[in-house]
Amino acid sequence: MARIVAFSNQKGGVAKSTTVEAFAAELTARGFRVLMVDMDAQPGNLSLHVGADKERRGSGDMLLQAKPTEENVSDCIQDAGDFGDIVAADERLDTVDDRLNSRVGRERILDRALAAIQGRYDFILVDTPPSLQVRTLNALAAADDVIIPTRADLSSVAGVSSVLDVLDDIMTVTSHDIDLVGIALADWDPRLSLAKELGAVVERLAEDRGARVLGRPVRHATAAAQAQRHGEPLRVFAPSSTVHEDYRELVSAYLAEIGLQ
Ligand SMILES: Nc1ncnc2c1ncn2[C@@H]1O[C@H](COP(=O)(O)OP(=O)(O)O)[C@@H](O)[C@H]1O
Ligand SMILES: [Mg+2]
Repeated sequence: MARIVAFSNQKGGVAKSTTVEAFAAELTARGFRVLMVDMDAQPGNLSLHVGADKERRGSGDMLLQAKPTEENVSDCIQDAGDFGDIVAADERLDTVDDRLNSRVGRERILDRALAAIQGRYDFILVDTPPSLQVRTLNALAAADDVIIPTRADLSSVAGVSSVLDVLDDIMTVTSHDIDLVGIALADWDPRLSLAKELGAVVERLAEDRGARVLGRPVRHATAAAQAQRHGEPLRVFAPSSTVHEDYRELVSAYLAEIGLQ
């Protein structure tokens, strides 16, 4: 059964999607079967970077199915080459929130859909929008592990704290256990005056809240955005870049935390 990993931060632009892409490519290269689920309809998102077709059925369709079956969930999956497979953010995704909000058990809709195909993958990586709306709650409520990326700025770190608060609520309300809450220092520029101070703040926050900071920071490097524009994983586009090296380390740190390395 796949481990479901949600990537979340209430703040946008903190390298959530970049981190999902890097995890997907790295885990696929290591021989794991990977499915990404894009729950963020914003332009310039994960689906675009991995070359998915947004006209095809995707996550909006998957969430709106009244009775998810292996067949109709499989219909929403596309091949994303070096990144594994993806349920892309389709055109219906922006309209699903109101409809989810009016359903009974509205936080567990994604979980039920993924259960139909969970046996076919080792990891299901869920990218979320930069808010704690019902779609994000679904990702957190389905997750075995949660990874919270943050950049070295105050509002991103505040976003980490908000996700931790919501996780406490979700675990209480749904009696759902989350195995690992890992914080990933991403797009991290050590030259920023606040970087060191915020690194320490994040360490303390993690310690207080039963989370852990995964490995070491992923450094800021232009190769990250360039690889996305080319639709290629870092291991192909810039195998000797610092950002590729750092993401490999981060994935290894994650696998070590869950006892797979
Ligand atoms: N390590 C990095 N170095 C340089 N730019 C980065 C790095 N990580 C992410 N970025 C860039 O930061 C921007 C926001 O990243 P993205 O993953 O889209 O954030 P989010 O999904 O949280 O909104 C993107 O333009 C991305 O290319
Ligand atoms: Mg994103």
